[in-house]
Amino acid sequence: MMKHPRTGRPHLRTVSITGVGSYLPARVLTNQDLEKMVSTTSEWIMTRTGIEQRRIAAPDEATSDLAFLAAKRALHDARITPDQVELIIVATITPDMLFPSTACLVQQKLGAHRAAAFDIEAACSGFIYALDIAAHFVQSHTYDTVLVIGAEKMSSVIDWKDRNTCVLFGDGAGAAVLQNRPTAHGLLTTCLGADGTKATLLDMPGGGSACPASVESVEKRMHFLRMDGKETFKNAVNAMVSAATEALDRCGLSISQIRCVIPHQANQRIISAVGERLGATEEQVFVNVAKYGNTSAASVAIALDEAVRTERIRRGDLVLMVVFGAGLTWGAAIIEW
Ligand code: UT7
Repeated sequence: MMKHPRTGRPHLRTVSITGVGSYLPARVLTNQDLEKMVSTTSEWIMTRTGIEQRRIAAPDEATSDLAFLAAKRALHDARITPDQVELIIVATITPDMLFPSTACLVQQKLGAHRAAAFDIEAACSGFIYALDIAAHFVQSHTYDTVLVIGAEKMSSVIDWKDRNTCVLFGDGAGAAVLQNRPTAHGLLTTCLGADGTKATLLDMPGGGSACPASVESVEKRMHFLRMDGKETFKNAVNAMVSAATEALDRCGLSISQIRCVIPHQANQRIISAVGERLGATEEQVFVNVAKYGNTSAASVAIALDEAVRTERIRRGDLVLMVVFGAGLTWGAAIIEW
């Protein structure tokens, strides 16, 4: 089998991202708004996280609605119609409901009748996990056109009385269309990882089979996200640096060859630490955490769309995406745009 000139691995079918799109709900929640809700200050939030504001979905807007609007934009960008989509993968930890999957609800909203559909759950790493799964379907000739979406209504699982977490997250969705384009550039590599021994660092204990909803589970606030911020921070930096390094090594690339690094947007201090340890310049690292906060599985998908639209990424550029989330999970992907 032919070897890929850059990765040295067997040359599978090229997988290109042929369209991207994102959707952010209209309502803006500022740090000043949060000062009126919990004991915090805008200054604390800014200096500890870099977040200035986040978007909050309307009460009648569910994750599938955010996902649908991002997907519509990505299909338009790829110049394809919904009936050309053969598979929809939604990465989310805030599905509309436990079942059916949010992907099936998006399929119906889009009218993508031919598409198979399922959700995956890898928390904030979900988009890169979904991208990897989707790429394998395209590489193996199972499908030619796959729609990958990262979408979250984090505001639905936030404890608005917990200042440790409620200032950090926001709602939104980002989508990408993956297709085989024999003459185009594409995904060079993906690396995924997980560590279930640290599952309790960041979790939501209620509502699943281990702790179904009950009066007690509601009273104990078990249907909200919980996080050990300090430990999560340390693990995030280490895991993102090693995932990115592994991806670069696999492709025989150095960080200076990467035009744009798109890290998971959880905290400006995490992003800066990862950038520094990788040896990336500030100009190389894409940051929009100030505007949207941590949108979990949607984070790098939204950032990718914004980077393309603002021409931070142009055709032929090398792009490194790197993520980290609950599980613990992490991952990195390198794309030749
Ligand atoms: O997407 C998945 C990955 N998620 C992450 O990567 C998030 C990782 N963690 C973080 O981003 C940071 O750990 C936080 C932003 C959550 C916290 O920053 P920190 O520098 O680690 O602060 P800390 O946990 O050490 O807390 C310092 C103090 C505490 O007070 P005491 O105990 O020192 O008196 C907190 O109670 O800050 C207090 N604090 C706040 N004060 C004002 C915590 N939240 C707030 C707040 N406003 N919103």
